[in-house]
Amino acid sequence: MKASQKAPLHVCVTGAAGNIGYALVFRLASGDCYGKDQPIVLHMLEIPTGMKALEGVAMELSDCAFPLLHGMVLTDDLNTGFDGVNQAFLVGSRPRTKDMNRADLIKANGPIFVGQGKAIAARAASDVRVIVVGNPCNTNALIAMHAAKGVSPDRFHAMTRLDENRAKAQIATKAGVLPGDVTNVGIWGNHSDTMYPDYVHAKIGGRPATEIIPEESWFQGDFLKTVATRGKAIIEARGASSAASAASAAIDHMAALSNGTPEGQFTSMGVCSDGQYGVPKGLIFSYPVAACNGEWKIVEGLEHGAFAQQKIAATTAELVSERETVADLLG
Ligand code: NAD
Ligand code: LMR
Repeated sequence: MKASQKAPLHVCVTGAAGNIGYALVFRLASGDCYGKDQPIVLHMLEIPTGMKALEGVAMELSDCAFPLLHGMVLTDDLNTGFDGVNQAFLVGSRPRTKDMNRADLIKANGPIFVGQGKAIAARAASDVRVIVVGNPCNTNALIAMHAAKGVSPDRFHAMTRLDENRAKAQIATKAGVLPGDVTNVGIWGNHSDTMYPDYVHAKIGGRPATEIIPEESWFQGDFLKTVATRGKAIIEARGASSAASAASAAIDHMAALSNGTPEGQFTSMGVCSDGQYGVPKGLIFSYPVAACNGEWKIVEGLEHGAFAQQKIAATTAELVSERETVADLLG
């Protein structure tokens, strides 16, 4: 089907003039997420002080003459930003600096997601899917989900695909294979340094990764530490939070949700727990997830040894504590 024959998807990016936004919108407009035959209308939401820079981003988007970009909405108004939106990337928020943990951002960023959740409920399309990138993303997704009365909780996701991609890259380098050979690396829990990147169920070329890298001490040591603290390492090296890799992971997440995960494979998504694996109901918790046509399912029946159980308990406790911190925002 020709691009012009499909109805455009309305895709909202908040914080579109920021670092991640700048890396994200061009890839969305060039068809990297929804395919080369799917036109989009980009809704770009900023705060008033970001509007001037946003105009520059829009000029550049226009100058790319992307055939799939069928329109742009530039706004600092939530209702206009989310009007008729099918897909929403909630990026706009403050990134941490060198001396902060992601959780330190809760008080600064949490309130943003109340207004956005309400506007999504009021104005977005009935099939809306939302990914929260702004940190602390699990708890911000929880806030947006609570604020979006009437929208099914399964529509709200937090991004842990960047952690999954980082983990795949580390495993590929260690095994001397390509990242595409590494599959089924589930990230469990919070997008924070308590996360558990599950190497036990990971595969390399369809075989257990632990058979090809028989070094449990590496997985439980350097591997885990590198993946869990990669965001901080990038901030220290770049003087700014990861941006292009975060945008790429957000595209991977939404593309997997729309197009599905290959048979027998899974990806990682922060989704609303229904109590699976003993995680309290209602937390936005990253699980291994299989997706198909916009729907998703937590992969059940994976067995965990003592090390994994202890890591999953710790990341769960952190998310419970973050939920307590924002209790006043969970109306
Ligand atoms: P940035 O400061 O470069 O850009 C943020 C943009 O958001 C700015 O243009 C700002 O004007 C805008 N903004 C702020 N408040 C807004 C609001 N209420 N509505 C709309 N726009 C708003 O930051 P960045 O590097 O793009 O990072 C954005 C967020 O993403 C941070 O919270 C960062 O920690 C997070 N992040 C998450 C992941 C992840 O894996 N989940 C990875 C990297 C970064
Ligand atoms: C990342 O993982 O790169 C982001 O969450 C940014 C950060 O603060 O670590």
